[in-house]
Amino acid sequence: MMIALRNAETADVGFVCGLSREVFSRYGDYSGVLPDWLANPAVQTILAEEAPGQPVGFAMLGPRPPRRLALYLGGELLAVAVVAERRREGIGRRLVLEIERRARAANMRELRLSTASTNLVARRLYASLGFAVRTHYIRFYPSGQSALEMAKRL
Ligand SMILES: CC(C)(COP(=O)(O)OP(=O)(O)OC[C@H]1O[C@@H](n2cnc3c(N)ncnc32)[C@H](O)[C@@H]1OP(=O)(O)O)[C@@H](O)C(=O)NCCC(=O)NCCS
Repeated sequence: MMIALRNAETADVGFVCGLSREVFSRYGDYSGVLPDWLANPAVQTILAEEAPGQPVGFAMLGPRPPRRLALYLGGELLAVAVVAERRREGIGRRLVLEIERRARAANMRELRLSTASTNLVARRLYASLGFAVRTHYIRFYPSGQSALEMAKRL
């Protein structure tokens, strides 16, 4: 199956929010945050489609505020998700690689992300792409789960 990547548009809000609800609601209520990110011009949302109008996944790249004398500008992988029926086909990896490409194109020097400590599938995906664990946050998510911050130099 050929998967195409494209920028998400306002009309994709239903897919992005629906899939997010399925996969992220166990961590907290993100129903208000996701449409805000999608509408935020500083956030890039990439959609994976198996045919026009048939989205199967998405990923979001947001900026991070400059830290330490503004010598550094990093990006954050805000979210990545693939529909259950299309997992383990390489779509998640393609989406993260596209986020990395976009971050480099925006002169970001580093990409960071947070993921639930118990999300072994996501941790394995990120580790296979060279992300390393930087910090452990206890009770990071609204529902109380702990998280890891992982980062990769670009
Ligand atoms: C995490 C997620 C996006 C991965 O998407 P995917 O398209 O299935 O991932 P890929 O097929 O590109 O797999 C890439 C790598 O991830 C790891 N991986 C993916 N699924 C896995 C599984 N079921 N078990 C173990 N490792 C797995 C493997 O390292 C895999 O590489 P490999 O196939 O060469 O072994 C998907 O599982 C998902 O949407 N999960 C729910 C949402 C979520 O948890 N998002 C991350 C939040 S931070």
